[in-house]
Amino acid sequence: MQRSAERIATISAHLNPSTSPHQMEGLSAANCRAKGGSPGFKVAILGAAGGIGQPLAMLMKMNPLVSVLHLYDVANTPGVTADISHMDTGAVVRGFLGPQQLEDALTGMDLVVIPAGVPRKPGMTRDDLFNINAGIVKTLCEGIAKCCPKAIVNIISNPVNSTVPIAAEVFKMAGTFDPRRLLGVTMLDVVRANTFVAEVLGLDPREVDVPVVGGHAGVTILPLLSQIKPPCSFTPAETEYLTSRIQNGGTEVVEVR
Ligand SMILES: NC(=O)c1ccc[n+]([C@@H]2O[C@H](COP(=O)([O-])OP(=O)(O)OC[C@H]3O[C@@H](n4cnc5c(N)ncnc54)[C@H](O)[C@@H]3O)[C@@H](O)[C@H]2O)c1
Repeated sequence: MQRSAERIATISAHLNPSTSPHQMEGLSAANCRAKGGSPGFKVAILGAAGGIGQPLAMLMKMNPLVSVLHLYDVANTPGVTADISHMDTGAVVRGFLGPQQLEDALTGMDLVVIPAGVPRKPGMTRDDLFNINAGIVKTLCEGIAKCCPKAIVNIISNPVNSTVPIAAEVFKMAGTFDPRRLLGVTMLDVVRANTFVAEVLGLDPREVDVPVVGGHAGVTILPLLSQIKPPCSFTPAETEYLTSRIQNGGTEVVEVR
């Protein structure tokens, strides 16, 4: 009778997470030895549970230069954090949920990347996102000015042409503005330009380097097709096709979602 009670207790210990073997031995994820003391960059992603935030979190966790990775969102961070933290790379991953945890997420960070906000739906331009995302970026930047004023800030939330100036104004008001530390992320335009130009030229995209200047919305995206490496030339029809496709690459994706 006593042996069967012991066996039931053993089985239930496996089934019930609150009496898992680790915890029965006094060991839990929270009191394992931390690796975060190793040198490296401390990075926060704000909006980490979204379509951009999750793969970005994975890439940051894979980066050997990152020692601490803070994942902040207003929804779903516990699950995303648990998932990313199981990757067998060095960075310590911590999750933060909701505005009351924003300051903890930001304190001590070297780099803050912001993909928080709403994305476009078919028929919308990036400017249509302004009313919602401007307020989100403003609030997050106020937290940065307070908790990690020296951090490099990368803004992904659209419309980047407008969210970056909003961030700049917040930092100016706080007296922490440094233009070298505030960047809008527009690399996607370069990636698309390299891909589309390589298709036309019949080259490997990795061998093509297309400079893109200007902003990150429609006609403000300016691919410098005369400055491509390796040097090449296009017919007027090719120039028109490439310019239009690069400028509208984001819309191409939004329309087929
Ligand atoms: N710059 C670029 O190249 C580029 C590329 C792709 C997407 N974007 C932009 O990035 C943004 C995110 O796109 P997505 O596809 O990941 O959208 P998404 O809806 O999948 O994710 C957005 C995330 O932001 C979170 N969020 C909302 N309000 C927040 C707040 N106040 N604080 C913290 N987190 C908050 C949401 O909970 C969600 O998890 C959009 O504005 C999109 O237009 C920019």
